[in-house]
This record gives sequence, C-alpha cells and structure tokens, in this order.
Amino acid sequence: MQHTVRQLIPKVAPFVRPYLGLMGLSFLANLVFSLVNAAVLAVVEPIFRTLFGASAPIAAASTTPAIGSGLKAWFDGFIYNVVIADQFFDSIRNLSIFIFVLFIIRGVAKYLGRIISVRMEEGIMKSIRDALFMKVTALSMDFFARKKTGDVMSLLTNDVSVLNSATVNSLTTIWREGTTILIYLALLLAISPTLTLIAIGISLGGLILIRTTTGVLRRYGARMQSAQANYTSTLQESVLGIRVVKALGIESTMIKRFTDQTSHYVRMALRNTRISGLVPLVNDTFGILALVGVFYAGGSALAAGEIQPSNLVTFLFLLFGLMQPITTTVSTIANMQRGIAAADNVVNLLEEQPSIAAGDVVPSTFTTALSVKDLTFSYGDGPVLRNVSFTLRRGETIALVGASGSGKSTMLDLLLRFYDPTSGVIEFDGTDIRTFDLVSYRKQFGMVSQETILFNDTVANNISLGYADANDENIRRAARIAHAETFINQLPETYQTSIGDRGMRLSGGQRQRLAIARAVVRDPQILLFDEATSALDTESERIVQEAISDVLQDRTAVIVAHRLSTIVNADRILVFEQGCIVEEGTHDALLSRGGVYAKLHAMQYANDSTDQRS
Ligand SMILES: Nc1ncnc2c1ncn2[C@@H]1O[C@H](COP(=O)(O)OP(=O)(O)O)[C@@H](O)[C@H]1O
Ligand SMILES: [Mg+2]
Repeated sequence: MQHTVRQLIPKVAPFVRPYLGLMGLSFLANLVFSLVNAAVLAVVEPIFRTLFGASAPIAAASTTPAIGSGLKAWFDGFIYNVVIADQFFDSIRNLSIFIFVLFIIRGVAKYLGRIISVRMEEGIMKSIRDALFMKVTALSMDFFARKKTGDVMSLLTNDVSVLNSATVNSLTTIWREGTTILIYLALLLAISPTLTLIAIGISLGGLILIRTTTGVLRRYGARMQSAQANYTSTLQESVLGIRVVKALGIESTMIKRFTDQTSHYVRMALRNTRISGLVPLVNDTFGILALVGVFYAGGSALAAGEIQPSNLVTFLFLLFGLMQPITTTVSTIANMQRGIAAADNVVNLLEEQPSIAAGDVVPSTFTTALSVKDLTFSYGDGPVLRNVSFTLRRGETIALVGASGSGKSTMLDLLLRFYDPTSGVIEFDGTDIRTFDLVSYRKQFGMVSQETILFNDTVANNISLGYADANDENIRRAARIAHAETFINQLPETYQTSIGDRGMRLSGGQRQRLAIARAVVRDPQILLFDEATSALDTESERIVQEAISDVLQDRTAVIVAHRLSTIVNADRILVFEQGCIVEEGTHDALLSRGGVYAKLHAMQYANDSTDQRS
C-alpha cells in the first residue's frame, strides 16, 4: 500500500521523538552557522565603506520589515562602533580579526552540528532497524513464504539508510539552508524591498516548475529501492546456496543475473538523476535571471541616485549568496522523494500483522494427549490437509508416512502452530492451542527437521540455543543422548569448538546429531522429527537413526520418516495421501492389511535390494 506523506509522518514520528532534544541542538548549531554565514556577507558593506571611504550607514527605508532592518541596524551598529575605527589601518586590522573569528565560529558550529546530527541520525536508524527486526521475528510463517528474504534484508539495510539520508538528514539541511535563506531575505528587504520583490518574482517561476517533478521522482525512487532489493536478493541466495551454485556450475548464470540487476539499478539511478538533476539546473537558471534582473533594475536606481553603490554591491553579493542555499534546499526536497519511497516500504513492513494471534495462557506440563480434531487446512488454494483427526497420547510415538507432498510437514507445522487450521482444532491436554502464549507453547516441543539451521557459534552454544539456563551437564547429557558425544570430544576444542557459518565445518550426520541434542536439551514434552535423516548418506543415516531410536525411549514424539524401516517400532503409523489419513495402525497390522502402506513398503524394499545388489 502506498502512503501519502501525511500518513507517513505520524508513523515515523515515534522513532524521531526521543531525539527531538538532539534535533533542537542540531538546529541550534546550524542556526549559528547560518547567522555567521549571513554576517560574513553583511560585513561586505562596511568593508566597501572602509576601503572607499563613505561615512555613516544609510538608514534603512521605513517600509522594510522590522526583523530585517532590526538585524541589520544591530549588526551595522556593532560594526561601526566596535570594528570600524577612526584610523584606517585600525579598521583594516579589526575587520581582519573579525572575519577570522567569524570563520572560526562558523567552522566550530558546523563541526558540532555534524556530530550532533550523526548521533541523532544513527540513533533514529538504529531504533527503526530494531523495530523492523522485532517485527520480522514476530511475523508468522506465511509472511516468509510470501516475501523474498532478500527484500526483507534490503529493507533493513538499504531502505533504512535511504530513509535517513533522504529525510532526517534532509531536514537538517533544509533547516540550515532555510534559515540562511530567511536571514538573507530579511537583509535583502532591509536594503531594498523593490529589488527583493523583483528577485523573488523571477525565482518563483523556477519553484513552480520544480514542484511538478516530485511525483515523478517519488515513482523513480520506488523503482530504485526495488532494483536494490533485487540484487540484494540474488547476492543473498547465491551466498546461502553457494554449494548448489558451484555443484551445478551455474556461477556464470548467477553472475549474469547479478550484473543485470546492478545494471538495472544504475539505469534507474540515472533516470532518477536525469529528473532530479534538472531541479538545480532550472533553479540556477532562474537564479541567474533574478540576479540579472536585479542588476538591471539596481543599475537604473543607482543612476537615478536612489541607492548607494555599497548597498547595491551588498545586495548583489547577498543575492548571489542566496542562490546556493536555494538550490541545495530545492534539490534536497527533490531527493526526499526517494526517502519517502523508502519510508513507505519501512512503514508497510511495520504495519504487517502476524497472521497467528497469540493467546496468553501458559501451558502446564503435558499430561494426557495432543489431539487433532477434524482438521482441514489450506495455504490459500486447495486444501492441503482434509478432515485429519488423531490423538498423540503421552509416551506414544506416532509416525506419519506418505508420498512427498501429501501434507506431512504441514501437519507438523500446524502442531507447532506456524499456521492455524482452516477448520477443526488442535488440543493440548484438552485446551485449544490458540489460547496459549506462542513462545511458551512452542517450548513444549523439540523439533528436528531435514535441514538443520546451525549458527556460527560454538558446539555448546548451538546445543543450548533457546535454553539460557542450560549448564555443562545438561549440554553433555543432550549430546550423549544424541550420540554426538564421541565426535564432539574429537573436535579441537570439544564443546567450545566454533562450527563455522551454518555449521559448514561439520558433516551432515554431525549436524543432525547436534540438532537432536538441541531438541532434547530442554527435555521438551513432545519431539517432532521431520525426515531428519533424509539428507544423509547411508552410514550417517544409520548413526543418526540409532540416536533417534534412543531419544524416543519414554518420550512422546511424532516422526515423519521417508524410510519405513525406521518406524517399525512406532505405536501407530498414519498413512497420508493427498492430505487425508487413509490408513492407521501398527506396522504389522498395516502390512497384513495389504493397502497403501504395504505397497509403499514393498516398493521401498525392492529399491533397497536393488541398492544392495549394485
Ligand atoms: N508455504 C506453502 N505455501 C503453499 N503451499 C505449500 C506450502 N508449503 C507446502 N505447500 C504445499 O502443500 C502440500 C503439502 O506439502 P508438505 O506438507 O510439505 O508435504 P510433505 O511434507 O508430505 O512432503 C504440497 O502440495 C505443497 O506444495
Ligand atoms: Mg515434508
């Protein structure tokens, strides 16, 4: 959804609010900077007077606005009383010192302003990033199925920086240049209202022209952000999938995709600049027109004796000095459009709501059963599970089997409440699981899936992950249960060995055993295994399978197994076909029945004996 700026401001405001104090300080420093800048130009007139010898300053015309003339009168008074002396050389010396001091103050103000701004900007970006990260972790699984990971990454990195540079940072710029513009305008008015009106009249033409470009710029800005997200996605997929990329030899394909996307980004950036670059061009042209107009009108006034030469020179200096701040302000406003596009992305993510609404009941210890009652579920299109009912009693092991795509993993996801059923309920000891607090409900489970996610940390920390209170004994015990102790003890630093990014330094079988240790370290009430051995070679599979069998002693578990030999001991086997349970019973009962299970079994047995012969 696209937001208007008016809608965006209140959404971003909470992140800025804690920094309003700093923003005030930054504005103050920038105000000092602008004032000094103006003083540097305002000193031009006294210099001219001193060098070319005119006596008193001319009084400002009575029609001039109070602020401008007051400021100028005060400044002139200061200059003529303190700096300009009777002696010519004293005046020159005083003026030199004065200008030097002005520049020092200006430099210090700019420096301080910068430090304060960075403190403020980085602080705001940090809180936006933190909020986005919290939001991302809070969202339900369907969000991640919908969104590309790279887009989310790009949002947190690129969009947040663009949002800052194009808005928070721009605000400071606009304030600094804006106050400069106002002070200059006041001074200009103090010198000659007529000439000022002429200048403003001409420059307004440019501003109106520029106003029309903002819509275009916002659209182009959005395209730049999305082009950036595209190449970030490719980068992320290639790095995460580098094994696949290399094994398939598709490096050049990925390179081509990436370079095409970066080229696309460059094209978008260029297109954006072609329009945004017009802004200063148009602006400068009108500025020069204004200057020429004033020069012409001022020249006539000078000839008619209506204006002092030193005043006209100061006026032109001021007007010239005004051009750059105006150009900067206007270009900044043009560039803000890209930031607004980025802010739109950020706000959209912040407004995402998890599709799973958590309750607040904390489940007590599992005593009787987890029951699935007449459950139907669909991801959106057709139902993936249909009228599924079964009960997992405490201490039982249930196995789910069935062809790939028959809905087994989805069933486990529903037990963990990654999704809510379309109809039907799941009850934990008789209570609808939707009433539970999500985190404490999920802590009842230990899950081992096909692909284990390990973190770049030590063996011990990977096992104790999510169980902050784990002590060495817990970790060792879990490793022993998972048959991981022997290999861990052979690692260079045993439990303190770092396992590398995503556990790359371990074999597949070792990773799965760590996953099992992680699942059991908390002594969860229910264990879920989803084809935990399917990615392994025969030897590792055997070892991991032994580990699983040991783990299952006296525990409650649901196992999805692609290899039927591993589930002969299950208390019950549920056979899934296209989302329905078509058969249910023990291994022996199902075999003698001669149905789907018996067929699956026969097929696998045939395959296995072929394997052995070859
Ligand atoms: N996130 C998802 N969005 C849409 N459809 C999905 C999603 N995950 C799985 N499916 C579909 O649901 C069906 C069951 O998938 P799954 O539960 O993974 O089967 P199994 O684990 O038995 O192989 C499949 O047709 C699959 O294409
Ligand atoms: Mg599956």
